[in-house]
Amino acid sequence: MKMKTYVRPEALYPYRAWSLAEEAYDDENNQRSESVFALGNGYIGMRGNFEEGYHGVKGKSVTGNYVNGFYDAKPIVYPEGAYGYPSRNQSMLNVTNAQCVHISVGDDPFHLNAGKVISYKRELDMKRGFLQRHVEWESPSGGHVRLSFRRLVSLSRQHLAAIQVEIESVQYSGAIRLHSFMDGKIEEAEVTDDPRLGSGGGEPSLMHEYMKRSGEELLLKQRTRHTDFELVTAISHQVTGPLVWESEDIQDDEHIGTAFTVRLAPGEKVSLTKYISYHSSKDEAGQELEIQATETHHAASGLSFEKLLGEQEAYLESFWQHADVEIEGDPALQQGIRFNAYQLLQSVGRDGKTNIGAKGLTGEGYEGHYFWDTEMYMMPFFTYTQPDIARALMDFRYATLDKARSRAEVMSQKGALYPWRTIDGEENSAYFPAGTAQMHINADIAYAVRQYVQATGDEEFLVRKGAEILFETSRFWTDLGYFNAARDGAFCIDAVTGPDEYTAIVNNNTYTNLMVQSQLSYAYETAHLLRRDYPAEYDRIAQAIGLTEAETEGWKEAAIRMYVPYDEKLGIYAQDDTFLSKKKWDFENTPEDKYPLLLHFHPLVIYRHQVLKQADTVMALFLLGEKFTIEEKVRNYQYYEPLTTHDSSLSPCIHSIVSAEIGDLEGAYAYFDRTVRMDLDDINRNAKDGLHTAAMAGSWMSIVNGFAGMRLTNGSLSFNPALPAQWESCSFRVTYQGQLLKVRMSRRETSYTLLAGDRVSFKHQGKDISLTAGETVVM
Ligand code: BGC
Repeated sequence: MKMKTYVRPEALYPYRAWSLAEEAYDDENNQRSESVFALGNGYIGMRGNFEEGYHGVKGKSVTGNYVNGFYDAKPIVYPEGAYGYPSRNQSMLNVTNAQCVHISVGDDPFHLNAGKVISYKRELDMKRGFLQRHVEWESPSGGHVRLSFRRLVSLSRQHLAAIQVEIESVQYSGAIRLHSFMDGKIEEAEVTDDPRLGSGGGEPSLMHEYMKRSGEELLLKQRTRHTDFELVTAISHQVTGPLVWESEDIQDDEHIGTAFTVRLAPGEKVSLTKYISYHSSKDEAGQELEIQATETHHAASGLSFEKLLGEQEAYLESFWQHADVEIEGDPALQQGIRFNAYQLLQSVGRDGKTNIGAKGLTGEGYEGHYFWDTEMYMMPFFTYTQPDIARALMDFRYATLDKARSRAEVMSQKGALYPWRTIDGEENSAYFPAGTAQMHINADIAYAVRQYVQATGDEEFLVRKGAEILFETSRFWTDLGYFNAARDGAFCIDAVTGPDEYTAIVNNNTYTNLMVQSQLSYAYETAHLLRRDYPAEYDRIAQAIGLTEAETEGWKEAAIRMYVPYDEKLGIYAQDDTFLSKKKWDFENTPEDKYPLLLHFHPLVIYRHQVLKQADTVMALFLLGEKFTIEEKVRNYQYYEPLTTHDSSLSPCIHSIVSAEIGDLEGAYAYFDRTVRMDLDDINRNAKDGLHTAAMAGSWMSIVNGFAGMRLTNGSLSFNPALPAQWESCSFRVTYQGQLLKVRMSRRETSYTLLAGDRVSFKHQGKDISLTAGETVVM
């Protein structure tokens, strides 16, 4: 599926360097806008729902509020089960909606489908970290007012969000009522046939416990049905403006709030600030939740919306200092790349107990599950821009290692097998051919450990946690694979699925075998390193898991004798033992509306063809580039690319990177274009269900690893820049071993500046470069 013909669609949102805006309200696209205007801080996620609620066409809105890692686990009912199938499905819960502020102008409730909208604008400000909406409105009875809404989810206060509503009378004298409340009744997720959305339906997961007023705070407590987690959502208010002449406590069913009524004359304003907090027993002791909530609100009451905004801006200033990418010559891409970085930050768990879901905290697609997407897509972005967050993501895998050990046992193997999809570390994949069978997740995590350690120099992590992950997952591989007499004693791995989910349960998936080979070598080296430099730590781990030298020697042996299927005639690696002998998919006679294939063909129809959902061998060409010659890269790419549908959003960015490496800049550019604006242009037409987090991170990789050709091979950093003809220049920053390096590519030259740190060494097109503090070199 060639991408060279890619034509960027017309802008859905105007191109702006530091913001995302919509200048008119449109029911039809409301649900998509709710995703792209989502706010979050890695713990709390809030879709861009309107404070006044949604009053448009049915089915065009999903009210969504999420707490990272807060889930219920409903039993999975299999009509035909089998041993080892997961029995429960963890799914991220849509929690109490605290965004609600219903406004009345006289007797007229405010909403966008009533009265007359004179002007409307909504804008997400990525520098200051807040969302604002300005509406000039005339009520059905002629009350003319200006409404401004500002909201933020605090990046520096994990549990806190705030909304400010300001109403100014233009030509109106009379009562304005602001009813601010929490709604504990959760809209059930849509039940569809789309496997990417999740199961939905069934009994509600959140059970109401109680509501109460405690001083200035209003609290609502819920409990999950199966996991027995508790959640306390709380709100408090500050009102300024004309004298509040009435404040009314309103409480019914699962709603609790306060209505403030004021009288405005033309030119007068009222302002309401609402603080919102979420505290759950997953993070704090159950009996403490109310106390913690009260403390969060007491701290907030000493602040103001402006002060929170100030904190937000300061946080983001440091973030952008490390993570910004500037593209001169294309405002659409500039906006896209910043939006992606910003959304990644908003969705990533930073506490070592949570991670980043396939849709982040922006929607319920994939049920909030964490996949290999984290290690292979999101980790590079965080490793090189926010290493502390990358460390927290790695800590998460260590924290769930015991569960991976249990899973290996269920699978009749030694060591540890990480789950294909999870929230809390348990396997949640009910469809094993494209789930549990993707055991490459183990090698992906091992790859991320190596990249993280080598890029950051965080050997402490390797010694304390990473090594044990490597050892247990390597033990799994040598137990799963075997020296196969039928293949001259080569080490084979059978019955696995590679990254391409359109080919399942195969023997010797090239990607998997190569990644395992690399992992086993690294695990072997790490065991050596620990024995030599950290003997006490080595003994501790060896004793705990019963590791012997003979076992680590076995890893080396398996790595050396790893079988990798190769087709002499074509001069390419076969995706697996049987892939090349299958019939090719009939692309010519597959109409556009039959994509993605997974929604139109039974899996078996797809499995029996040469057709790829996403990069597989091509992914290995990038990740393990040193194992291939450039000619091999070209041949493999040229074979697999035309067979790839990119039905997974994880695919185009990898093709962009490899295209750039093999010198096809035009192809690389087309793939990049599609990746970087995946959600802003709604390319897969499902942004409404949540943003494509991996693709967003992949767009960063397309620039840094693709156009700038950055690689970290055996612990040494190198660049091989090639600027797309469409751009004037492009610059980005990476943190490498604690040093902040700025790379700027322009048509004529590439410059490297060491912005912070003492010294950094790397290669530019094979040439050694060393920079000291503040120094710039131009190549
Ligand atoms: C892809 C997987 C990915 C998952 C979650 C699927 O469509 O095929 O590789 O992990 O989505 O993003």
